[in-house]
Amino acid sequence: MAQTQPILITGGTGFIGSHTAVVLAEAGQPFVILDNLCNSSPKVLDRLARLNASPLEFVQADIRDSAALDALFARYNFAGVIHFAGLKAVGESVAQPLRYLENNVSGTINLLQAMDRAHVRRIVFSSSATVYGDPAVVPIPETAPLTATNPYGRSKLMCEDALRELHAADPRWHIAVLRYFNPVGAHDSGLLGEAPNGIPNNLMPYITQVALGQREYLQIFGNDYDTPDGTGVRDYLHVMDLAQGHLAALRALDTPKLLTVNLGTGQGVSVKDMVDTFARVNGVPIAHRFVARRPGDVAQCLADARQAKALLHWQTQHNLERMCADAWRWQSMNPQGFDTPL
Ligand code: NAD
Ligand code: WQD
Repeated sequence: MAQTQPILITGGTGFIGSHTAVVLAEAGQPFVILDNLCNSSPKVLDRLARLNASPLEFVQADIRDSAALDALFARYNFAGVIHFAGLKAVGESVAQPLRYLENNVSGTINLLQAMDRAHVRRIVFSSSATVYGDPAVVPIPETAPLTATNPYGRSKLMCEDALRELHAADPRWHIAVLRYFNPVGAHDSGLLGEAPNGIPNNLMPYITQVALGQREYLQIFGNDYDTPDGTGVRDYLHVMDLAQGHLAALRALDTPKLLTVNLGTGQGVSVKDMVDTFARVNGVPIAHRFVARRPGDVAQCLADARQAKALLHWQTQHNLERMCADAWRWQSMNPQGFDTPL
């Protein structure tokens, strides 16, 4: 991959995409961002500029807009695409399945068709550990059975299937399917981080909002799981490690292939561990109450991370303490998210 050819980042103003932009910039890899801003702020671009990670161009457009994609692919000779754009709220997907399938699946197929027309056949796709459903075995290997337990998960599985069918039909494609576990943390400058709209669905942003006093207490969903302390166990990884995983995947796609890789630490952390570590590292207690299990949650979900090491030469560098410290720096410096003047 020639260094001078840019990469297209779809969803590049979002949580993971913006951190990946910083990693690409640090590696001297130019990029363009396309995002429709349905779940991110244009102010992310000002923060990227302060981190010397500006895109060559920011295009406010939808991945379902073929004309916008064709025009963009005509303007640049892209080396490949890192495709983050998608809707990601599990509960919302249950209420609005067609919106999720249309945005995530039709959007991805539309993007792949535009790429094919432009002869850009290298893609890194954001999949999720959600495709493993309730895993029979943990740590979960990439060969585990795949299933969907909600429309969001279904959309990821359908995109994965489309990529597998595409590669089988046309082996010229370079495809990396990355199954992320639970990304948390923030850039250590405090300039970039996760800024969910409304009440956070995910654990870490909820904890940081309790720490800030924006929410009264954390509800811990279930303390009767078959886990060491009864609370749910997950594989949390620092978003900067996850971002590095995308650069590693791009590099691994030097020849046509289909890679399917878990990105996680392989270490299980319970909700209680997370609350305790956050409080200890940051010196901020997290008020919490145990409540009923959240429907659809599994007891444990953690990665078998060996393939990432073998195929991408990638492994995580940041520990749980660092994830908690960076998440809190971001939240405390930006109580209003990207609307906070800095
Ligand atoms: P995010 O919502 O912060 O970023 C996604 C970005 O995509 C947003 O900026 C949004 O505006 C944009 N977008 C959505 N639909 C679009 C469309 N049709 N056209 C153009 N832009 C569109 O989410 P994130 O946490 O950065 O996640 C990035 C990707 O990783 C998503 O595909 C998500 O499903 C996947 N993923 C996320 C997690 C997680 O826990 N955050 C875990 C596994 C997988
Ligand atoms: C983690 C743990 C909760 C909030 C989800 C999606 C998954 C992926 C990542 C995109 C669980 C507990 C949470 C709270 C709590 N996204 N919890 N109180 O559920 O592992 O994964 O995000 O692909 O598809 O399902 O992450 O952060 O929501 O929950 O007790 O207020 O924290 O029960 O054990 P999850 P999470």
